[in-house]
Amino acid sequence: MAFPLVHFLCILLLLLIPHFSTAQSQPHKNISLGESLTAGGDESSWDSPSGEFAFGFQQIDKGIFLLAIYFNKIPEKTIVWSAKTKNPVQRGSKLQLTGDGWLTLTDPIGNQIWKPDTTGAAAAYGAMLDAGNFVLAGWEYPRLWDSFDNPTDTILPTQILNWDSKLTARYSDKNYSSGRFELALRSNGNLVLYTIAFPLESANSDYWSTETAGSGFQLIFNQSGNIYIIARNESIIYMLSSDAGSEQDFYQRAILEHDGVFRHYVYPKNTSSSIERWGMQWFTLSFKPPNICEITQATGSGACGFNSYCRIGDQRPTCHCPRGYTFLDPNDFKKGCKQNFVSQNCSDPSLEVDLFMFDEMRYTDWPLSDYEHFQRVSEDWCRRACLGDCFCAVAIFRNGDCWKKKIPLSNGKFNPSDSGIALIKIRKDDSTLKPEDKDEEKKNRLTLVIVGSLLLSSSVFLNIVLLGGTFLLVFCFGYNVKKKNQMYSIMPGMNLQSFTYSELEKATNGFKEELGRGAFATVYKGILALENPTFVAVKKLDNMVREEEKEFRAEISAIGQTNHKNLVKLLGFCSEEKHRLLVYELISNGSLANFLFRKSRPNWYQRMQIVFGIARGLFYLHEECSSQIIHCDIKPQNILLDDSLTARISDFGLAKMLMADQTRTTTAIRGTKGYVAPEWFRNQPITVKVDVYSFGILLLELICCRKNFEQTWRTKIR
Ligand SMILES: *[C@@H]1O[C@H](CO)[C@@H](O)[C@H](O)[C@H]1NC(C)=O
Ligand SMILES: *[C@@H]1O[C@H](CO)[C@@H](O)[C@H](O)[C@H]1NC(C)=O
Ligand SMILES: *[C@@H]1O[C@H](CO)[C@@H](O)[C@H](O)[C@H]1NC(C)=O
Ligand SMILES: *[C@@H]1O[C@H](CO)[C@@H](O)[C@H](O)[C@H]1NC(C)=O
Ligand SMILES: *[C@@H]1O[C@H](CO)[C@@H](O)[C@H](O)[C@H]1NC(C)=O
Ligand SMILES: *[C@@H]1O[C@H](CO)[C@@H](O)[C@H](O)[C@H]1NC(C)=O
Repeated sequence: MAFPLVHFLCILLLLLIPHFSTAQSQPHKNISLGESLTAGGDESSWDSPSGEFAFGFQQIDKGIFLLAIYFNKIPEKTIVWSAKTKNPVQRGSKLQLTGDGWLTLTDPIGNQIWKPDTTGAAAAYGAMLDAGNFVLAGWEYPRLWDSFDNPTDTILPTQILNWDSKLTARYSDKNYSSGRFELALRSNGNLVLYTIAFPLESANSDYWSTETAGSGFQLIFNQSGNIYIIARNESIIYMLSSDAGSEQDFYQRAILEHDGVFRHYVYPKNTSSSIERWGMQWFTLSFKPPNICEITQATGSGACGFNSYCRIGDQRPTCHCPRGYTFLDPNDFKKGCKQNFVSQNCSDPSLEVDLFMFDEMRYTDWPLSDYEHFQRVSEDWCRRACLGDCFCAVAIFRNGDCWKKKIPLSNGKFNPSDSGIALIKIRKDDSTLKPEDKDEEKKNRLTLVIVGSLLLSSSVFLNIVLLGGTFLLVFCFGYNVKKKNQMYSIMPGMNLQSFTYSELEKATNGFKEELGRGAFATVYKGILALENPTFVAVKKLDNMVREEEKEFRAEISAIGQTNHKNLVKLLGFCSEEKHRLLVYELISNGSLANFLFRKSRPNWYQRMQIVFGIARGLFYLHEECSSQIIHCDIKPQNILLDDSLTARISDFGLAKMLMADQTRTTTAIRGTKGYVAPEWFRNQPITVKVDVYSFGILLLELICCRKNFEQTWRTKIR
């Protein structure tokens, strides 16, 4: 019954979108000889007839412009092509199609800084086409030059990549000069991703390939948003991305990004109903390779710079330094890390053995950086071997195998299924560390070290006195002293950190990037400047009852004591005047709702694992915590998925804090329409079974991959 209706509505919707068919038949607006554009001037772009694309100057920094083609109708003005000039384009630079048919870009003084290669032929006119292609037409050849044949890092629907053409990633998100990742369709038919020996252009080995050598002919991004490789006989031999929304609903682009990942993005057009669902932003539809951190190449540093390691989080790779190392350039994480201590004296390493120690890191490895390998040894043996060897920077120990690694470490990766342990050799006395932006943290660590060594070295009597003193201090002042200067103080008695409001404001960059919004809170993305910068989700409660500080802390402490692999971990909180914020670990893969209610069904096995995960998490909250926790709002939006698609229950324990509010105002029942257990309506006491009811609804949704109710018919159509 439902399906014919949906189809009918689909067709109706298509018919109602007015400019869909007219846009394409419009003639091109010609750019005739003599026309020009000026960077920062009144006339600074040539638009396509539909206005969706523009060719012209885009300001990327103060007084710095880029000659680019960009999406002109979305606020981001996303760049899809740019002219590779040696020096940045200054205000007042001029692009002109000269009277005799040459397109030239000149700086304010009049020196030519760029021109397209038209193989010596003059142009008759130029045109910015609706597909996003800027063409120069000759007197004899209709296409002297076009931007589609000279791509930078992006391809668009209807664009084709031929043999021996390539995309070069930009250096960083906002720096458009060439970076060190490239994608090419080799003349043997293989589409490959590889790094180059930056800043030269020679290729290192490939880190991903379609393995279509011998048959691949063209890479096609077709009008309906499928990206694939065809053979000479036009049959599709490799699908890179499919399942895009329809072309009239979405803008699309595929880009080799600065992190080395080739991503297919879509952006809902204003006319489409999908704005509600996707929001006004670029949304990643698919990407290759699946995990760029897995790069292992004999030459080059890997996905991140030397001495750093790569970690996939939030679907994107990030680069980190091991302990004892800091970024070479704090503004450019890709340049790698440097040792922050004086390395071991090689003339007599045995004398310095006592000055070094190991920082243990699990799940981390730098394959290919080893220079020695020992088998059937103990971890202790491995540690001693590395300590006594001035070349050894890191030792990896895994099931009786011991590898010594040397500087610079390359191809570093964080991999949760790695069973080995990385022993990072660092100097104990880090007095040579240059304090950078972590002054505070270091001071804290130093005082801790001093107290620690005092405790260890002094007599029993002194110990008791010191301990007693510390205890008294904490007891008397712990709660009342405003912890202003301390960096991320720890809440006594548990692992929670207490943040000030300004610390969190800083961590979230002024609450800039919103991750989601609920009835009583808004969630922002943040980054804590700990030893390894950690991404966090900061939840700002806005409907909180003005309750006693003590009560809030009691609640927080109950939540803070939970620890289960199917729960989202609470890292800290802030309770300052009227502000109540919670800091959670950031779970990378979004919510179960996004995962479940998208166009293609997730597979049955994954769904089953998710069900088990939620059930385990709930069982823990209900039966295994010292104080029983009722969630009260189990729904797909509150289940998050991590890197490995493990279900993580979020927002538990908030119910109690909010319930006080509810009983007073008696407005609504705590929970979400469609998931609320019947006893709420019957004034019966609420037990953990309300969660079981909601879980049942959720289970049905997981089995069928559809919502238990639809808000509007439009959401269903996508
Ligand atoms: C653009 O210029 C070409 C060549 O002069 C001409 O054939 C074509 O009709 C022009 N198109 C428009 C829309 O002016
Ligand atoms: C962009 O990166 C390149 C390569 O590191 C560098 O030479 C250039 O100065 C950077 N440009 C800007 C505007 O930062
Ligand atoms: C087209 O070419 C591919 C690879 O060369 C081959 O596998 C396929 O069978 C061919 N298809 C047809 C219809 O000839
Ligand atoms: C694009 O490719 C897909 C997959 O081969 C095909 O189903 C679709 O019809 C193509 N669309 C156009 C407009 O050619
Ligand atoms: C979307 O379209 C509506 C009506 O056509 C218009 O009022 C609104 O400003 C548009 N929004 C954007 C972001 O373009
Ligand atoms: C290394 O040790 C040797 C011998 O103990 C000493 O002479 C030399 O100065 C040391 N070098 C450094 C850089 O400390």
